[in-house]
Amino acid sequence: MSSLADKRILLGVGGGIAAYKSADLVRRLLERGADVRVVMTAGAREFVQPLTFQALSGNPVHTDLLDPAAEAAMGHIELAKWADLVLVAPASANIMARLAAGMADDLLSTLCLATEAPLALAPAMNQAMWRHPATTANAATLCERGAALLGPDAGSQACGDIGPGRMLEPQALAAEVERLFAPVQSLAGKCVAITAGPTREALDPVRFLSNHSSGKMGFALAAAAQRAGAEVTLIAGPVSLPTPPGVKRIDVVDAREMREAAERAADFCDLFIGAAAVADFRPAEVAVQKIKKEDGRDSDSLALVKNPDIVAGIAARTSRRPFTVGFAAETEKVEEHARGKLLRKKLDLIIANDVSAADGGFNSDRNAVTIIDSSGATQLPSALKTELADQLIGIISARAFPG
Ligand code: C5P
Repeated sequence: MSSLADKRILLGVGGGIAAYKSADLVRRLLERGADVRVVMTAGAREFVQPLTFQALSGNPVHTDLLDPAAEAAMGHIELAKWADLVLVAPASANIMARLAAGMADDLLSTLCLATEAPLALAPAMNQAMWRHPATTANAATLCERGAALLGPDAGSQACGDIGPGRMLEPQALAAEVERLFAPVQSLAGKCVAITAGPTREALDPVRFLSNHSSGKMGFALAAAAQRAGAEVTLIAGPVSLPTPPGVKRIDVVDAREMREAAERAADFCDLFIGAAAVADFRPAEVAVQKIKKEDGRDSDSLALVKNPDIVAGIAARTSRRPFTVGFAAETEKVEEHARGKLLRKKLDLIIANDVSAADGGFNSDRNAVTIIDSSGATQLPSALKTELADQLIGIISARAFPG
């Protein structure tokens, strides 16, 4: 049976030069057995004639929200209900902004709001527009709401620029759509524990030592592992992020609490990922009352003691040892330092990232990482943490549970 047999795909064609590729995309989707209906924005119609899509899809093309004849044939709510998937390709910066804002001022945006079907977007725009913080924020908002971002690709662009923002080729897009309908359950039956976020080490009742970790990477990994079929326990330091659906969350505050929860979870897990930014040290003493500044003293010092290394403790186990993965946030000699940590902490694999890079690291929605294990290093280019998480879970599961 064809991979997309009986799947009803509503293809929203946005205004961009990549619209011509969507004509071929219709054919690739039909080849796989899908039933395709096309909605074109006014911008899309400047690039390609609706007749092209009508001839290819075998269905009338929908263009207007307020066209009585079209509404009588198949109203927009009916069309929204018809779809098993809404795929916007090309998704211009403008469409992404309007969808992120929840606009409903033309047929495509209204359908995206009215449908209960999953939404997939194939971004296509100039590289500077793709990199703009406004687009990054819109993409993150859409992903958080569950939209799948397919691409973009990087390379030479129609405008002459080189960089990320090219729409994926139709063949690759059709393959991604197949994957959405039948996601690879690479962690089916596996139990995964993940630490995420910072820890907070109390100094007195009102002060603490901590760091800038947002927890986004660890939370994205937990969501990706859950999507890949795992039973996931997420051990979270103090962060303000929603719990990914289907994930068991344990909230902790300091490193010792995090270790206790991690050790307990590791007893039952097949894969442990230390994505938390654990404070290396904690105050040697926690004052019971708020510490007062003493008059006349211009400096003070703080005695610190080392925190337990959670991920190294789990990697050092001689029994019930899960496949153990760590992170290395570095500002220089990234690969060299990460490799040192891989060996010192006896990890199976380490994910290194350059936190000094403008585009990525702590608190950013994006990250670019290098995966290092005994077999070598693999670089993954900058991507949204949500997307990167799916790639990382795919690679980690293949290394942890080959065959
Ligand atoms: O040594 P460093 O803090 O750079 O190591 C980072 C890795 O070790 C991360 O995976 C982090 O979650 C883990 N770690 C830990 N416990 C600590 C310090 C780091 O689990 N006390």
